[in-house]
Amino acid sequence: MNVTFETKHGNRGGKDEWLTPPEIIKALGEFDLDPCSPINRPWDTAKKHYNIFDNGLEQPWTGRVWCNPPYGKETGLWLKRCAEYGNAIALTFARTETKMFFSCVWDKATAVFFIKGRLKFHHVSGEQGTSAGSPSVLIAYGKENAIKLKNSEISGMFLWVNGI
Ligand SMILES: C[S@@+](CC[C@H](N)C(=O)[O-])C[C@H]1O[C@@H](n2cnc3c(N)ncnc32)[C@H](O)[C@@H]1O
Repeated sequence: MNVTFETKHGNRGGKDEWLTPPEIIKALGEFDLDPCSPINRPWDTAKKHYNIFDNGLEQPWTGRVWCNPPYGKETGLWLKRCAEYGNAIALTFARTETKMFFSCVWDKATAVFFIKGRLKFHHVSGEQGTSAGSPSVLIAYGKENAIKLKNSEISGMFLWVNGI
């Protein structure tokens, strides 16, 4: 059974609708595609967006991709696609010990950037929530994206992984 629901913030599907603080995306430069975007977004995150009705995983990806994927088991599918695609920055929780993190990040990413403190994600209404329950990491696939992370003004720790 496929259940969707609306929260008081207008979130459809509930737990997946945690939007990236816009200053994080802005600090990383312009993106061509966000393949996993809300149906009704409060702001653009890229030049082109796919939502759950498009199923961004089944669509062609072009240009530089921004990917803050849906949470849960699905996250690995999105990071796998980012790794295969090779021109993306992804944002996810820093669950560094998981199988998914080993196969899609430690084995495949060009670089990672551990964000200092905890992010406050936004609701689809645009309203900012409280601090997330876990730390977050930005993951670069491709050298240009790694350099963007390295030179960003976001507070945190940059590490080359499979880069130079
Ligand atoms: C964690 S939110 C991030 C939203 C946005 N990318 C951002 O960075 O602010 C994940 C988004 O993926 C969307 N989503 C879930 N499944 C999807 C699918 N199969 N295809 C495209 N988008 C999907 C959800 O509706 C949600 O808006």
